[in-house]
Amino acid sequence: MSYQLLMNGRIVNSWGCINADILLKDDKIDAIGALGDLNIEGMQRVQCKGMLLLPGGVDVHTHIDSPMMGTNTSDDFETGTKAAAAGGTTTIVDFAMQPRGGHLLHALETHHAKARGKAVVDYGFHMCVTDLYDGATDEFAEIAQSGVTSFKVFMAYRGTLMLHDGELFEVLRKSGSVGAQVCVHAENGDVIDRLSADLVAAGRTGPSSHEISRPPSTEVEAVHRAIRISRMADAPLYFVHLSTEGAIEAVAEARANDWPVAGETCTHYLTLDRGLYDQPGFEAAKVVLTPPLRGEQHRTALWRGLRAGSLGVVSSDHCPFCLEDKRRLGGEDFRLIPNGGPGIEHRMLVLYSEGVVKNRITLEKYVDLTSTAPARQFGLASKGAIAPGFDADILVLDPTGHTTISSKTQNQRVDYSLYDDWEIDGSIVAVYSRGDVIARDGMFIGESGRGKFIVRDTR
Ligand code: URP
Ligand code: ZN
Ligand code: ZN
Repeated sequence: MSYQLLMNGRIVNSWGCINADILLKDDKIDAIGALGDLNIEGMQRVQCKGMLLLPGGVDVHTHIDSPMMGTNTSDDFETGTKAAAAGGTTTIVDFAMQPRGGHLLHALETHHAKARGKAVVDYGFHMCVTDLYDGATDEFAEIAQSGVTSFKVFMAYRGTLMLHDGELFEVLRKSGSVGAQVCVHAENGDVIDRLSADLVAAGRTGPSSHEISRPPSTEVEAVHRAIRISRMADAPLYFVHLSTEGAIEAVAEARANDWPVAGETCTHYLTLDRGLYDQPGFEAAKVVLTPPLRGEQHRTALWRGLRAGSLGVVSSDHCPFCLEDKRRLGGEDFRLIPNGGPGIEHRMLVLYSEGVVKNRITLEKYVDLTSTAPARQFGLASKGAIAPGFDADILVLDPTGHTTISSKTQNQRVDYSLYDDWEIDGSIVAVYSRGDVIARDGMFIGESGRGKFIVRDTR
């Protein structure tokens, strides 16, 4: 048995903060309190005075080693989860993509094979349903029983990823009946396709057209529609990557009516402005991600939604592609630029600096959004809190530290960062995952392949 005592830190949970010691016994949190007098043979003492001790980050929206728009995301499970660890995230829930024409169970096994023996933090999967072939929903029970208790559907990308409304209804209905939940990418794909075709016909083929082709109304309409369809199916709904004021209002209204609707936003929607699409040349391709970045009115509404509770989770939507890959595929036509950007490594610190340090959210709220709430939402029962019996996943953050983000030194396998050259407050001193120190000062130092697949419970 091994014991570690983290002494004199400031422990932050979603329900409050205390100055205390944490006793770790093997991979679990054993006790919290004034434990300095404890004398256990072989116990290691770690001085944490002045440090914040937070539950390890839980990022429930990542696309690692994933086929997407004619290419593959650039991180595999080794590089992507090392980047997660270095940035204070100790659990991810990643999307297992069903290729068109492929079977769900086969796609799930393919994704398991990519992660097994490579992931260095604990991981679960959502199952992306992109092709509702005859009998597809019959596989839902087996998928849920295997611990993959959430499905994702797209309301955009007709011909590749999109399901139509009847199929969305069917996925909702069937998921509910097997105790799983549905995550929805809400954008009106058909309107976006029309607007995109108009832009190309007018010769506006560069990356900045991405934003124009996906106005806020395309998200807002789809959110309203999905809520209505989920009511018809009598099933709960989780919206991924919300970016607009109107979408948040729709979620808030549904929640006010006691409908089980949850909303997520991502670090980049909270912190980056649509002005990045006005950059010259191909630079704007770095922010060709979906939905696009928005203006200040929407960002203000997102922060408000986090405080009010209509948005409960902040994820990264880590979906990295090297700029060269974006250029090779979409240099002539913005519609072909792979949609997505990196973010797994910097979510925790950027949100700390932009949210807590700038007084937009409290420390407790920060912990809730980045760890406790996503763990609760997705059935990660042993994650998301510093309390006896929980996994010893702990982020040691120095609030007096400073961090410079640079794609030259980052661990994500991609040639840019959305936050390149940002100087931010706070630094990550150490990261514990099930009692192992897996990162120090922004570098992964743990063992390869140590991450475990998490079997999540059905609802
Ligand atoms: O731009 C994004 N978000 N790419 C990943 C796919 C998705 O929609 O989540
Ligand atoms: Zn999406
Ligand atoms: Zn995504």
